[in-house]
Amino acid sequence: MNLKKFFATICAATLFFTTASAQAETSPQNITNADDLADAAGDSAEKFYLSLPKAKGDYKSRQRPILIEGAMNVETEILVRALKNPVTYRELNYLFVAGTYKNYPVVIVRTEQGMANAAASTALAIKKFNPVAVINQGTSGGHDPALNIGDIVIGASSFDYTAIKAPYSPAGAGTDLTFQQEMRGTYAFDAASGKFQPYKKYLADPTLLKVAEGVAAANKNFNVVKGTIGTGNAWLCNIDYINFLHETYGSSCEEMETSCVAQICQTAGVPFIGIRILSDNITVTDEYNPDTAKTAQDFVLLVVEDYIRNVLKK
Ligand code: 5AD
Repeated sequence: MNLKKFFATICAATLFFTTASAQAETSPQNITNADDLADAAGDSAEKFYLSLPKAKGDYKSRQRPILIEGAMNVETEILVRALKNPVTYRELNYLFVAGTYKNYPVVIVRTEQGMANAAASTALAIKKFNPVAVINQGTSGGHDPALNIGDIVIGASSFDYTAIKAPYSPAGAGTDLTFQQEMRGTYAFDAASGKFQPYKKYLADPTLLKVAEGVAAANKNFNVVKGTIGTGNAWLCNIDYINFLHETYGSSCEEMETSCVAQICQTAGVPFIGIRILSDNITVTDEYNPDTAKTAQDFVLLVVEDYIRNVLKK
C-alpha cells in the first residue's frame, strides 16, 4: 500500500466510525420499542376489564349511546373506568364495554390496532349498539414539526395516505412513492348518489367539531389544534416522506385507525370525529410516550359531557 492509499483508508475508516456513532446517538431508541412500552402502560387495564360483569342478553337502551373508540388498553382504560354500571360484550373477540356517563348511555370499544380491526369493530358496534355518534381517539405520531408530544389534534378531516395511485415507473427507477402520486381515496356510501364513491378525505361531523373546539377553547390546560389526521397501517420514521405528506395533504399527525372509522361511519350515516394526541413526533424528537393517551381520554370525556348536555339533551 502506498502512502496516499494508506491515508485514504484511515480517512474513510474515521468517517465511517464518526457517522456510525453519530447515528447511534440520534437513533429513535424509544420509538423502536414503542409496542412494548404501550403494552406495559396498559397492563393494569387488562385485569380490570376481565373483572367486569358480562352482559346478559342483547344491548337495550332507550337512548342511542355514544360510541368511543381506542385501539389499546392504555387508550381505553380511563374511559372504561369513567363508566357507571359497566358490562362487557365480545363480538368476534373484540371487547365492548357499555355503561353510562353523566347519566347517558356510552359504549367503549377496544378496536385493537390497525385499519382492518378499526373498521370491523366499528361496523360490529354500529350494528349492535346503534350509536348516535362515534368518537375515535388515541395516540399518534406528529407530522407537523410545530406540534409537541402531548398536543391534541381535533381531526377536522382524516384521510388514508396509502390510498394512492402511483404513475408507472420501470424496474430500477427506485421506490420513491412521492413521485407524481395521485390520491384515489377510499370507497364509502354516498346517500345522495345511492352508490359507494371514492372519498379523498372524510370531514368530521360539524356539530361534534364545534363541540370539541368549544371544549378546547374553555379548557386551556389542554394544548389543542384543529387539523388533519393521516391513517395507514405503517409507522413512518422517514422524515422526507412525512414532510411530503404534511406538505401535500396537510397531515398534522399519523396513526392507524381514524380514516377507516370515518369511512364506515360515512357508509352507515353516523356522525363521526377523530381526536388524537401526539405520543411521538419523529420530525422533532425520538421520544415516545404512551401515557399521553390518558390526557386524550380526559379531553374526550369533556367533549362527551358537553355533547350530551348541549346537543343530545336539548
Ligand atoms: N405512527 C403510526 N401509528 C401510531 N400510533 C401512535 N404513534 C404512531 C405513529 N407514529 C398509534 C396507532 C396504533 C398504535 C401503534 O398507536 O394508531 O394504534
